[in-house]
Amino acid sequence: MSSTIHTIKENLYVNSLYIDKLGLSFNQFIVVSKDKSITLIETGFRKNFNEVCTNMARVGLIPENIQNVIVPHFEADEMGAVPEVLKISNKKINLYAHPICTFGLSDIFDVKAKPVKDGEIISVFEGCSLKFIHTQHVHQWDSLVVYWIEQKILFSSDLFIQGGEFTGINSNNCLNEIVNSIKKDNYLPSHNHLVNALNKISKNDIETILPMHGSGLSNNIDLYIESLKNLNFE
Ligand SMILES: [Fe+2]
Ligand SMILES: [Fe+2]
Repeated sequence: MSSTIHTIKENLYVNSLYIDKLGLSFNQFIVVSKDKSITLIETGFRKNFNEVCTNMARVGLIPENIQNVIVPHFEADEMGAVPEVLKISNKKINLYAHPICTFGLSDIFDVKAKPVKDGEIISVFEGCSLKFIHTQHVHQWDSLVVYWIEQKILFSSDLFIQGGEFTGINSNNCLNEIVNSIKKDNYLPSHNHLVNALNKISKNDIETILPMHGSGLSNNIDLYIESLKNLNFE
């Protein structure tokens, strides 16, 4: 089990933990403002947070500067390290999540999280406007994905995931890997809800998808969306 940090562009990093036993990577996305404040999308597991901090320091980032945390749904890999973030940060943390998820976060971690509406846009810093898109039952009822408007990047949480390590942004056609992961792990409970989510997502001009498991995706975005809409779940 090891975690590595990847520089995607000057203000975007991916920390990725690979668990051999599962054949699956777990990604955390780190967006950095000009004044070095950090927005963290997905916290990763609680027990791995120290390693995330070590990796951040390796590329010159200061974990204590985490200011915004986005939790796409209430599950250990997405929010487990919230208490660790609260412990180390110098800042007053803004924690954003679906309204149902904020109840859970407040109850378990004694933190005041901010509920985001479907379609709400929050500017976390200059040049980073994040649009929150509710994706109910993909794969939890409090699920959402996040679209970085200026960069045309979709942080897709558990949508478009693939097995294997994070290898950067993949421009090849990864449809088979995405479909294999859906079929193998059986993590999507309803095709109707998946189609609803994909219809909402497709209204945005997406150039890159960064799922929380597997590699980033560019090109073929319309193909992925349309193919999953027509996917036979049986
Ligand atoms: Fe999940
Ligand atoms: Fe996940």
